Amino acid sequence: MTIILDGKKLREKILTNLKAELDKLEVKPSLAVILAGDNPASKIYVNNKKKIAEQIGINSTVIKLDENVTEDELIQKIHSLNIDPNVNAILVQLPLPAHISKERILGMIDPKKDVDGLSPYNFGKLFSGAKPYVYPCTPKGVLLLLDEYNIELEGKHVVVVGRSNLVGKPIAQMMLDRNATVTVCHSRTKNLAEITKTADILVSAVGENIIEEKMLKSGCVVVDVGIFKDSTGRTRGDVDFENVSKIASYITPVPGGVGPMTIASLMLNTVELFNSTIRR
Ligand code: GUN
Repeated sequence: MTIILDGKKLREKILTNLKAELDKLEVKPSLAVILAGDNPASKIYVNNKKKIAEQIGINSTVIKLDENVTEDELIQKIHSLNIDPNVNAILVQLPLPAHISKERILGMIDPKKDVDGLSPYNFGKLFSGAKPYVYPCTPKGVLLLLDEYNIELEGKHVVVVGRSNLVGKPIAQMMLDRNATVTVCHSRTKNLAEITKTADILVSAVGENIIEEKMLKSGCVVVDVGIFKDSTGRTRGDVDFENVSKIASYITPVPGGVGPMTIASLMLNTVELFNSTIRR
């Protein structure tokens, strides 16, 4: 029988604990989110982040910028947040409009306020084996979820499908740091199914419904990071949940698995940055 990795339940537990911690404080942490452009999914994510931040006692501001904003205007905004003592966490929602260089923008965020851990400084620290100020939210959330269910990583073969900076690359590194044996697959991988068949733990972060039951071995742990709407408007993940759940030992649902954990990690990261500001 498969066990559902319940991200919603763990998120509630994390948020309850954070709220109790923040209720004791007079000065609250503060998260600034920059949303450039009109991406409908991003608008929903950003509103959700703001709502949850406020529920637990984090001050949250959303800075909305036009789709046509220039790189320089965006950098000016980031700079003003970098030097604002009342802001301790900055998130630039991705994707950015096509004319803007994501790498350049992420590089402008003060690493001590980089709540996503995606700036070159923090990303570089992660890959060099040093501790970044915080770890990227989605990979961190996946590891928290696996830990909650006592799923051992050491010595396990983890197959990551997807090589994005947001998920695939950092999760591969974070799994390596936990002594897993990691294989990263992507759109040009040949014989994907032959590799996924050898996974003890499969992490899929592609955004297409590609993982079928026949690609996996019985008893594997399945983590579905993908979330998108199919042609009928239904929310789907990368994994054929109905059939894969018949053979997996553990599986994340979509929605209700990894998504809520990303938000929980964002709140944890905001508080971690806030606490390190006080210690600095
Ligand atoms: N877009 C989708 N997920 C994320 C995330 O974790 N951080 C940022 N900044 N943008 C995103």
